[in-house]
Amino acid sequence: MEVKALVLASLLSFLRLAAGQSFTLSSASFNSEERGYLSSGDATYEPSCGCVHLTTSEWNQQPVNSSGRIVYRHPFDFRDDSLRGVASFNTSFTFQIVRVFEDGNSGIGPGAGMAFMLVPEANMRLPKNSYGFYMGLLNETMQGNNSTHMLAVEFDDVLNTDVGDPSASHAGVDINSVISVATANLTGEFNLTANYTLTAWIEYDATTDCLEVRMARNSTERPREFLLRTNFSSRGWKLSGVLNQERMYVGFSAATGQDCFQFHRLYAWNFTMSRVTKCNGVDCPVVKVLVALSVALALALMVALAMVVVFRRTKKIAYTIHMPESVGITRFSFKELRSATRGFSKKLLLGRGGFASVYKGTLKDRTAVAIKYLNRDKAEADSENSIAQFVAEIRVIGQLRHRNLVGLKGFCFERAKFCLVYEYMPNRSLDKHLFDPKGKLEWHQRLAILRGVAEGLAFLHEGWQQRVLHRDVKAANVLLDASFGAKLGDFGFSKLVDHGTGSWYMTAVGTTGYMAPELYTGRATERSDVYSFGILALEVVSGRRATSLSKDKNDEDSVLLDWVRELACDGRDMEAVDPRLHEAAARAEDIVRAIRLGLHCCQLEAYKRPTMRACCQLLQSNAACLEAPPMPAIVSSPSVRGLSLDGSGEGFNVDDDANHSS
Ligand SMILES: *[C@@H]1O[C@H](CO)[C@@H](O)[C@H](O)[C@H]1NC(C)=O
Ligand SMILES: *[C@@H]1O[C@H](CO)[C@@H](O)[C@H](O)[C@H]1NC(C)=O
Ligand SMILES: *[C@@H]1O[C@H](CO)[C@@H](O)[C@H](O)[C@H]1NC(C)=O
Ligand SMILES: *[C@@H]1O[C@H](CO)[C@@H](O)[C@H](O)[C@H]1NC(C)=O
Ligand SMILES: *[C@@H]1O[C@H](CO)[C@@H](O)[C@H](O)[C@H]1NC(C)=O
Ligand SMILES: *[C@@H]1O[C@H](CO)[C@@H](O)[C@H](O)[C@H]1NC(C)=O
Ligand SMILES: *[C@@H]1O[C@H](CO)[C@@H](O)[C@H](O)[C@H]1NC(C)=O
Ligand SMILES: *[C@@H]1O[C@H](CO)[C@@H](O)[C@H](O)[C@H]1NC(C)=O
Ligand SMILES: *[C@@H]1O[C@H](CO)[C@@H](O)[C@H](O)[C@H]1NC(C)=O
Ligand SMILES: *[C@@H]1O[C@H](CO)[C@@H](O)[C@H](O)[C@H]1NC(C)=O
Ligand SMILES: *[C@@H]1O[C@H](CO)[C@@H](O)[C@H](O)[C@H]1NC(C)=O
Repeated sequence: MEVKALVLASLLSFLRLAAGQSFTLSSASFNSEERGYLSSGDATYEPSCGCVHLTTSEWNQQPVNSSGRIVYRHPFDFRDDSLRGVASFNTSFTFQIVRVFEDGNSGIGPGAGMAFMLVPEANMRLPKNSYGFYMGLLNETMQGNNSTHMLAVEFDDVLNTDVGDPSASHAGVDINSVISVATANLTGEFNLTANYTLTAWIEYDATTDCLEVRMARNSTERPREFLLRTNFSSRGWKLSGVLNQERMYVGFSAATGQDCFQFHRLYAWNFTMSRVTKCNGVDCPVVKVLVALSVALALALMVALAMVVVFRRTKKIAYTIHMPESVGITRFSFKELRSATRGFSKKLLLGRGGFASVYKGTLKDRTAVAIKYLNRDKAEADSENSIAQFVAEIRVIGQLRHRNLVGLKGFCFERAKFCLVYEYMPNRSLDKHLFDPKGKLEWHQRLAILRGVAEGLAFLHEGWQQRVLHRDVKAANVLLDASFGAKLGDFGFSKLVDHGTGSWYMTAVGTTGYMAPELYTGRATERSDVYSFGILALEVVSGRRATSLSKDKNDEDSVLLDWVRELACDGRDMEAVDPRLHEAAARAEDIVRAIRLGLHCCQLEAYKRPTMRACCQLLQSNAACLEAPPMPAIVSSPSVRGLSLDGSGEGFNVDDDANHSS
């Protein structure tokens, strides 16, 4: 039941995020379970107020140069085809500036302020030396520099005439600079110097090119009256020249300084972006829309026709293709395979999934094989395009030979009948041993399996002329030979899903529990395989399923990763170990190393995860043991600190090009 609920929950969150990716995005509330943001600098979640402290929450009567920021986890593309070339957006948030130092003794006062910001990916992390009146937004190098690509709305409670502040309590619109292009004094109910909890609305409407700021106290009802309105066109500013980066992040920043200190709290936040182009009568009359529509339709028809022609052609190619001898894979006839499996006898069934059944077979030359019979409905199976791709993929995969990859011996396709013939693995798959209460895998075997899987994945990622992603690393896809050596199965085919007109034999790529967070909105990369490998490592050590519930009754919906992560942060790694491991105590060092590596592989930010090559090295007995990675900013347990994005020291200094996957 609970597992079902969990699966449903992940499914729902997937749907929500997927919709968000398109045009409209909504809420990342800090009290909810949604792990919506990344933080850098001193920003931390503070359970006592249920809020995020953007600057340090530790006050020891000493002002420090503290600065911090959070950004929503996924980037936005603000460029659009409308008149202004930028998308409209609305945001609303509830915040509080708490002035723990009032002006007075020893020249120390309150400061310095906070801001809502839109920043490009390059400037997503907190810039160095951005404390003081820079409010964590930018630093001296970036100030006034058009390559900063930043739009911000500041809430500043200190009068600093150096940067043109109008008063001690004001809002300002900032473009690539902390010298505002427009400001408004905030007095009375909106007084920033009075510790008030305030809600602000910032709305940019691309049709009018105006940005409006509204505020309310004790209310989340949007007021009619705005406090500040900037008409960018009338000032000769083009937002399209600022927000023109493909990946922009939205968030908040704040700072204190060397002679000022205060708390900057953020309680709730929502954000919507809309790239829907609105028309006004003159610019796009209905006629124009209709014309555009019919042109689009005509084009679509032409493309469809062209595709049919191409399919026709590929059909011929597909059916006459021959494997080069050197590839070493055989094309079997369906008849051969049918007799090898005694007519696909139920007695020889090794396993059954949503898309395929696997049978044990014996070929004429008496070699044992595993035959995967793909279930497809006839209509889909007959799509000529699929067949051409299937054959193309088989040629690629057939050439991938590695001791930790299950060898493909051959294939068969005849009309709607598709089979893949693999070498037979007598000890079946890892999950059958790992999650069986009677399973007997000892630690040295488990470690060897992990090393094998790591080697196999490293080979897929880097060992061959073409990068291959596995995309479905999980215990059920790790197969064990007679001596419990690990071989990774089911690799490579997922590529078909990308190119295909429809699904091939997998409707979704990946398995709940093993899927990296970025997969819900982005593309698969090597680092998402690394994430799945990390989960697998935790399963291997703990003997528990990724989505199984923890034994702690008070913490019923915690998943394996969260549970192990918390234990590791407390230095109690060994409590996660499978109690069935008799040699655990003697091999504690290796075990902790594997746990820590698993956790590093499962970090939220893909770039911090090690490469598979690095994993291979880190699994060696002489490798140094990693520290447990910091807790992510929001996890189910509220009592944790934000994770750092400043990059120094942590992570693995990977080139950030993990995106070029195929
Ligand atoms: C804060 O930064 C200033 C330079 O801007 C430096 O002189 C001062 O020592 C720093 N204070 C702390 C506590 O780091
Ligand atoms: C922003 O809010 C205004 C007023 O509620 C609404 O008219 C507009 O459509 C919203 N824009 C977006 C992008 O959600
Ligand atoms: C400003 O920040 C960038 C990025 O963190 C850094 O490279 C640069 O050195 C900083 N400039 C100053 C003056 O600190
Ligand atoms: C503006 O920023 C770019 C890149 O951040 C830097 O190369 C350039 O020197 C800066 N220009 C000025 C005038 O500081
Ligand atoms: C920055 O861009 C603005 C607006 O396009 C322009 O007026 C200004 O001259 C630019 N500044 C620099 C230093 O290039
Ligand atoms: C803002 O306040 C300052 C000083 O309190 C005053 O000089 C200035 O005129 C005010 N600006 C507006 C737009 O009211
Ligand atoms: C803001 O509130 C503070 C403290 O309550 C008060 O001293 C100050 O005069 C107020 N300022 C404005 C502009 O209302
Ligand atoms: C704001 O809160 C701080 C700490 O609670 C307190 O010391 C300070 O006097 C308050 N300021 C105002 C204007 O209420
Ligand atoms: C907001 O709440 C505070 C404290 O509950 C109260 O003193 C103040 O009058 C309220 N303001 C408004 C505008 O309702
Ligand atoms: C965002 O929050 C504000 C204030 O709480 C609220 O008025 C608005 O309706 C919210 N918008 C969405 C889309 O949740
Ligand atoms: C913004 O400024 C432009 C150019 O000055 C003007 O044509 C337009 O009407 C203004 N828009 C609004 C909503 O005031």
